[in-house]
Amino acid sequence: MSVDIDELAKRLETQVLEDAKEAFSETVIEYAYNPRNMGEISDADGVGKITGTCGDTVQIQIRVENGRISESGFITDGCGTSIACGSMLTEMITDKTIEEALMITSDDLLRSLGGLPDEYVHCSVLAVNVLREAIADYRELRSNKQT
Ligand code: FES
Repeated sequence: MSVDIDELAKRLETQVLEDAKEAFSETVIEYAYNPRNMGEISDADGVGKITGTCGDTVQIQIRVENGRISESGFITDGCGTSIACGSMLTEMITDKTIEEALMITSDDLLRSLGGLPDEYVHCSVLAVNVLREAIADYRELRSNKQT
């Protein structure tokens, strides 16, 4: 019996998407399949990188101009949810002041994503912690330049 690999792959992809739609909001699926701001940015002013307890690593880079985050990018080797979280979070912080970005919580991120299944909530916590580390890195680099 011959197997049409392309057809099989298409069916599998459809099945995976159907399963995902049952567990995740439309927003999560959209942001995971069409990531925003994924990749490194040049001349970042602050970088945060954390490996979560799940073993996945997320990195966020920010560029700050006139006290506002003008650009950001993220990289992850983690799950699709971490892609959705990085995508949404980097959109949420664009044009925010450092102080405003620091006030974003994982609950805010969850709300923007339309929620996550309990077992994936930690992905949003990881993303927000990485952002905070990137901001701490920015502040440290800035204070070192001033001294
Ligand atoms: S970031 Fe590790 S499971 Fe989502």
